Amino acid sequence: MEKMWSGRFTESASSLLDEFNASIMYDRELYVEDIEGSIAHASMLQEQGILTKDELVLIKKGLAQVKEEIESGEFKWVLSDEDLHMGIEKRLTSIIGDAGKKVHTARSRNDQVAVDFRRYVLRKNKEIASLIHEVMRAFHTVASKHSETMIPGMTHLQHAQPTNFAFHLMAYGSMFKRDFERFEDSYRRNNISPLGCAALAGTPHNINRKSTADALGFDSVSTNCLDTVSDRDFAIEILFNISMSMMHISRLAEEMILWSSYEFKFITFSDAYSTGSSIMPQKKNPDAAELLRGKSGRVYGNLMSLLTVMKGLPLAYNKDTQEDKEGVFDSVKTIEISLRILKESLLTLTVHEDNMQAACKVGHLSATDLADYLVSHCNIPFREAHFITGKAVAKSEGLNIDLSDISFEELKSIDARIEKNVMPFLSIKNSMNARTSEGGTSTVRTVEQLAAFNTWLDNNK
Ligand code: ARG
Repeated sequence: MEKMWSGRFTESASSLLDEFNASIMYDRELYVEDIEGSIAHASMLQEQGILTKDELVLIKKGLAQVKEEIESGEFKWVLSDEDLHMGIEKRLTSIIGDAGKKVHTARSRNDQVAVDFRRYVLRKNKEIASLIHEVMRAFHTVASKHSETMIPGMTHLQHAQPTNFAFHLMAYGSMFKRDFERFEDSYRRNNISPLGCAALAGTPHNINRKSTADALGFDSVSTNCLDTVSDRDFAIEILFNISMSMMHISRLAEEMILWSSYEFKFITFSDAYSTGSSIMPQKKNPDAAELLRGKSGRVYGNLMSLLTVMKGLPLAYNKDTQEDKEGVFDSVKTIEISLRILKESLLTLTVHEDNMQAACKVGHLSATDLADYLVSHCNIPFREAHFITGKAVAKSEGLNIDLSDISFEELKSIDARIEKNVMPFLSIKNSMNARTSEGGTSTVRTVEQLAAFNTWLDNNK
């Protein structure tokens, strides 16, 4: 089949090269952006007197038909057309004749692919941010019911201090808020039009880049064509944004997997988001959460892959750059379904408050409170208070009880300076509620945090 660029060639391309060179089997994902880009470009060419009104009418009609054919599945994607840009242009020309051959005036596939892919990535930055927003709402919905549900706060996966479940969930809420802002920020930074840069150096035709930028919803026009046609920072950014967000998801998934085990039994996933075993009839496995944890692997891979493709590339466009798309498509699909699954898993899980509460009665969670009491009420230096508390913990272990259940007499026998007013400091609930510093876990502070989070959600829809 004759290529669009075959003027200087005498031999036809090998079919092996066709297969290697083509992106048409996957870049068709960009067909909406490609058709809109061509309409904006052709409209501008007409405004500038480069195309006639009649030609523009034909081009628009033809492109509308191409779009319909793609959407109905009628369109023939042919490997030897190389990429969607040429596939669409070829079909357009076969529908409308010579006017189709004029669309590419003052344009190159280099700025064409740059505009298509950039707009796809911009759109996905917005769509993913909005899915994250939905997940944040789900966090808020679940957390709102649990600002008094105590749960052991951990460091090193060992019991540390009592917190509440809402406080714990809102830690993830904070991570997703940063993620949301990162996607929005990338959108703002990259909302710049590449169209009109042509192959690498601009064009001698009297084009109007602002007009196409406005038509396509860009904030402004890029300043250096050489940079623009080979810039894929926007793609690397979304891959990074996705990786960061999937890393957060994997941390939560890991905790949920632990929490759903018999050892913890803090939560139960709904049947709709659990799976069974082919051999062990009793099993209910957290496969959804495990995949949420595991999918970070492939999105990190896609990020590393594109960073490596771009490393050391001389200016300007090189075919290496065609390797930018599949990883982005894959990461986008991965995070989109992950966020949907995460939201539904959250909204449908059962929280076992009693088990969370019971877990707070082991591990001497109020030990820091005893040390703080010794400092503030007995005027004992913190290092010494730490040591005395350690003795009280050892004593409790010997008695096989939690520090929160130790008697006043036992404490007094460890250090005579301890007074009866120590007792409230041992209570787990008091321990949690004592942490009233900004951002702390007390119910009062948690409720405040939930309210601020809710306001933020309302203001950032
Ligand atoms: N399919 C190509 C890509 O995705 C389009 C740009 C090709 N430009 C060129 N001069 N070969 O990067």
